Amino acid sequence: MVKTTVSIIKADIGSVAGHAVVAKPLFDIANKKLEDAKQNGIINSYYVFNAGDDLELLMTHNRGENNAEIHKLAWDTFMDGAKKAKNLKLYGAGQDLLLDAFSGNVKGLGPGVAEMEFQERGSDPVVIFAADKTEPSAFNYLLYRIFADPSNTAGLVIDPKMSGGFKFEVFDAYENRSVILETPSELYSLLALIGATSRYMVSKVWRSSDNEIVSTSSTTKLSLIAGSYVGKDDPVCIVRGQSGFPSVGEIIAPFQHTYLVSGWMRGSHWGPFMPVGLKDSICTVFDGPPRIVALGIQVSNGKIASDDDGNPLIVDFFKDVAFDGARKEAIEMSQFLRRMGEFEPARLGPEAMEYTTLPNVLNQLEPRFKKHE
Ligand code: F6R
Ligand code: MG
Ligand code: MG
Repeated sequence: MVKTTVSIIKADIGSVAGHAVVAKPLFDIANKKLEDAKQNGIINSYYVFNAGDDLELLMTHNRGENNAEIHKLAWDTFMDGAKKAKNLKLYGAGQDLLLDAFSGNVKGLGPGVAEMEFQERGSDPVVIFAADKTEPSAFNYLLYRIFADPSNTAGLVIDPKMSGGFKFEVFDAYENRSVILETPSELYSLLALIGATSRYMVSKVWRSSDNEIVSTSSTTKLSLIAGSYVGKDDPVCIVRGQSGFPSVGEIIAPFQHTYLVSGWMRGSHWGPFMPVGLKDSICTVFDGPPRIVALGIQVSNGKIASDDDGNPLIVDFFKDVAFDGARKEAIEMSQFLRRMGEFEPARLGPEAMEYTTLPNVLNQLEPRFKKHE
């Protein structure tokens, strides 16, 4: 049986106004490009959406992960969109297209990628997370709660198909290496690593009993590609649910509360992660707060299940009132943090600030320092 691949490839190619939200002409370009690709049989289905100023291309196909045609389709779409953004003088036009050296794969060039190939089951619910004004390790806590915390995921306790636990691949962004840890047996070691969100990020999760893939996340570190701050690596993550995986309800339950992630204004601050529906997927106060959307789809015969007119059936989970409490918390926490201004810990620590424009300011002061007697 042929396998299905779910790919989400995203980039910030310019927004309006400042770093707030993707402009309509860019959606139009992406929708047209992906519709043509669907007609030409390159992809089977697609859905274009935004996480704040990031344009998100969700596609299903049968070409596997890291496929040159799929990556070229995304790259060309971003290039066309960036051209339009430049014509309109949108802010940060072409921002995430850091290296114009496409040779079959967008990884390492700026866009973020999460892809997952799997054999379809009788029914395959999938949740797509996309966030703005933060970084891939923002998902560390989320993925820990979903796949390793029985107080979040009842299935870890109640469903025998999950009692063998899950395996986490952890990527070390500083050393460009990774390690696989099993839970529950290595839970404490996992937390020792992924609690250090400035360095480690969860890249993949499998069910231990049969090595079935269940989650994959983007792991770009734009600052390490470009050597300086060029916007945060606003991340995406794909999670499969139900029938021996965490249920959809367990997958989104961690967002009953907010938690702190790094990013927000100038990629330099801790901010509360706020779950929002697509209509609120726009960054406002202090260029944030960092926001996350969660879309539910059914992967069905290589496609996103759609209505009779071919419109994909999308569930916009976080627009639900059940997440109002987390939003309220996030708003209150953002007011609290912003009242602290540029004092740590509202601002990130010195190591993370190395990749921002702060060192330029500090360098200007350097000649004025005198030895303290
Ligand atoms: C965060 C982000 C924004 C900008 C900020 C300053 O990822 O992109 O918060 O850092 O708006 O932007 P510039 O320096 O371009 O005016
Ligand atoms: Mg931007
Ligand atoms: Mg962004």
